[in-house]
Amino acid sequence: MRLQDLSAALLELDASHRLRQRATLESPQGVEIVVDGEEYLSFASNDYLGLADHPSLVRALQQGADRWGAGSGASHLLTGHSRAHHEAEEELARFVGREAALLFGSGYAANLAVITSLVGRGDAVFADKLNHASLNDGCLLSRADFQRFRHNDLDHLEQLLSASRAGTKLIAVDAVYSMDGDEAPLPALLALAERFDAWLYVDDAHGFGVLGHGRGALAEHDLSSERLIYMATLGKAAGLAGAFVAGARPLVEWLLNRGRTYVFSTAQPPALAAAVPASLRLIADGEDRRERLARLVARCRERLAGSRFSSGASRTPIQPFIIGSDARAMKLAHGLRQQGYWVPAIRPPTVPENGARLRISLSARHEPAQLDALLDAMLLLAEA
Ligand SMILES: Cc1ncc(COP(=O)(O)O)c(C=O)c1O
Repeated sequence: MRLQDLSAALLELDASHRLRQRATLESPQGVEIVVDGEEYLSFASNDYLGLADHPSLVRALQQGADRWGAGSGASHLLTGHSRAHHEAEEELARFVGREAALLFGSGYAANLAVITSLVGRGDAVFADKLNHASLNDGCLLSRADFQRFRHNDLDHLEQLLSASRAGTKLIAVDAVYSMDGDEAPLPALLALAERFDAWLYVDDAHGFGVLGHGRGALAEHDLSSERLIYMATLGKAAGLAGAFVAGARPLVEWLLNRGRTYVFSTAQPPALAAAVPASLRLIADGEDRRERLARLVARCRERLAGSRFSSGASRTPIQPFIIGSDARAMKLAHGLRQQGYWVPAIRPPTVPENGARLRISLSARHEPAQLDALLDAMLLLAEA
């Protein structure tokens, strides 16, 4: 697009309620946030355990910066790989029970690296229809045959796998779907991967820290296999930033050699890596937080059960409040904001057409009364 086309396209986005704008926080991430001088009760972060401003993490980052400086200065394969990164990788691998792990600057980068380095022309990727955009982008970039199966539909996946003559096959799923909060049937998916000799790539961005006593979706289902590739982000429940991929050692060695977003990108600041062990300790000791969260999830589900706004499919901290039209979702989000609640309206293309929704994201730091007040306000506005 040329520059003169952009203004018109932006106006069109605005007219169709699809213009995106950023909220600029004037407070740390948390349940109570300040935007443009106004205080809001936020149900809008992925900070599920409420760790993003935890004093131990802040201290670990500060100590990391004191010890390692500010920037890594180079990619991992040059001189950007510090002892702090190395130890974080070893702890992460141990924590999720895999042979080895590799740190990435973001989950987006990790997804691109894994998919593009394992499959190419003549291969095939099988992706759930509701997968995160970064998985889809990895599939497109890989040049492998990109096949999408209906959401959580094992029969459809089986049909596609059995019809495929591809060399290498890779099944890619979100463990917890980011806009619906429901989960992938991982044991059955692994059984299919075994049967059709495929990799199973699990993006656990929203399960790590929450499911499996914090150790993630594979721990939740007690799954182990050399064909499993595990990815989790560190910017959500872990309270930091970045991501890691964990699996068999040769897989990690391969990614280190051929993962383009790993090879051609500067390593994340070592101070961040130095804070990873502190985050893992908080997650491991976070049973109270997870129990609080589970109680909030149950309360939210109970309130929305039977209402036309909930699919009832999510037992995770992501609770969608389905509206349908973009304009109505925006109006509702705006109405809530005027009452002091920050709940994001999620519109296409992030969700399917006519699937606009408010995405309630719960944190262990929400009080039950705060959730009740939000749901009262939401239901009142939505029914009006
Ligand atoms: C399912 C899923 N995968 C990957 C990502 C990307 O991770 P990151 O934010 O670390 O790039 C996200 C969200 O950000 C996500 O929701």
